[in-house]
Amino acid sequence: MVYNIGLLGLGTVGGGTAKILLDPVDRHPLLEEIKIKQIGVRDKSKTRDVPLPPDLILNTDLEAIVKDPEIDIIVELIGGLEPARSLILTAIDQGKHIVTANKAVIARYGDEIYAAANEKGVYVLLEAAVGGGIPVIKPLKQSLGVNKIKNVIGIVNGTTNYILTRMSGEKASFEEVLKEAQELGYAEADPTADVDGLDAADKISILASLAFSGKVKREDVYTEGIRQVSAADINYADKLGFIIKLLAIAESNHQLGEEALQLRVTPTLLPKDHPLASINGVYNAILVEGEPLGQVMFFGPGAGAGATASAVVSDIMNIVGILKSSGNTNDLDPLLSYSPSHYCKITPIEELITRFYVRFVCRDIPGVIGHLGTCFGKSNVSLESVVQIGFLGELAEIVVVTHDVREGNFRQALEEISKLEAFKSIPSILRVL
Ligand SMILES: NC(=O)c1ccc[n+]([C@@H]2O[C@H](COP(=O)([O-])OP(=O)(O)OC[C@H]3O[C@@H](n4cnc5c(N)ncnc54)[C@H](OP(=O)(O)O)[C@@H]3O)[C@@H](O)[C@H]2O)c1
Repeated sequence: MVYNIGLLGLGTVGGGTAKILLDPVDRHPLLEEIKIKQIGVRDKSKTRDVPLPPDLILNTDLEAIVKDPEIDIIVELIGGLEPARSLILTAIDQGKHIVTANKAVIARYGDEIYAAANEKGVYVLLEAAVGGGIPVIKPLKQSLGVNKIKNVIGIVNGTTNYILTRMSGEKASFEEVLKEAQELGYAEADPTADVDGLDAADKISILASLAFSGKVKREDVYTEGIRQVSAADINYADKLGFIIKLLAIAESNHQLGEEALQLRVTPTLLPKDHPLASINGVYNAILVEGEPLGQVMFFGPGAGAGATASAVVSDIMNIVGILKSSGNTNDLDPLLSYSPSHYCKITPIEELITRFYVRFVCRDIPGVIGHLGTCFGKSNVSLESVVQIGFLGELAEIVVVTHDVREGNFRQALEEISKLEAFKSIPSILRVL
């Protein structure tokens, strides 16, 4: 039996996927039964580095591909929101299974897409959408499914991890490293989605939804990027025993006895001996903590043609395995499909309990540290350390690390501090794990 694939996109990931499917020898035997029937692209005249067999002709009519009655699985690798969303929905309507690496479309339109898929009895699999080549989606759905998940903490964006690693190693500025990352192809010409944390927010909303078995609205992820992280912060954090990483966090807490989720993407100080502290460069890692399992960490290449294609093809194989063993039935395997009915309750960021690192610039006058301490004390913020680190002419830089505090109380204290005569500015506020 042969299962036909319609491949939408022949770029980085589409090209990697085609290479695996066209060279099935020494891989899982099931791959011998999977055939690319059509490939959709935008520009047929582009030079491609995938040697395609002569009968496989590129098509710019993607609508025709998703409606081709001989195709069983549509593999969406064009990225972006439209026409990806419409093509996925049309394919589902035609009774086709979907494999996608598109976290942006799933994070925003997952509800609509899964509702349509469940109605039609087809799968939508997305292993490659989070962590590139790292298998984390299927383990969350299956192997870890028996656990009560407490938290999922990830370094899920390779570009920002590369930038922070280089800033840390070379004491270089954000702007310098970003420019170099763009030249090396590790960062896009428009780096917004990466450096402002939007890509990581897409990914944590997908992971949270799977880990906590409820729907998650993308806009509920509190998001800060890494533009505000300076070489000075990295230096001070280092002296205090920390390293700065962009962390995507989903954690369960209890609000008035009811389970709620806290979702955030923020540059965060990690103790140097934390398992995620040693994840450097473009690598990704996801740490999952559950009861009774404890902690498990998934680590590997979070992007790249081969790695991401490995995850895409594993999803294709999973669907083909099911089609082969059970025929074309409309009963979806509950361990592979996704159908939560409720939305997770979300705790607002003001209610977050965390430690903070904050760097103040103040006039260097006697008693200034005491005034800062009084303002924090009035808002019930207890301090772990206050260090006057450097001088900038008549100004002093003071770094404060708090104990666990309610974010709302911390903000209230800052409000008070900003009224002090000695106060000049707050160049950075970071959370501490
Ligand atoms: N790159 C990675 O390492 C990575 C990792 C994880 C997930 N992903 C996800 O994988 C997806 C694909 O990423 P990529 O890096 O492979 O992108 P890419 O290199 O830009 O490739 C996109 C492909 O889609 C085609 N395409 C785009 N818009 C189209 C349209 N409107 N009509 C027809 N064809 C269209 C392009 O055609 P032409 O070739 O003719 O221009 C190209 O072949 C995205 O959702 C991305 O977020 C990528």
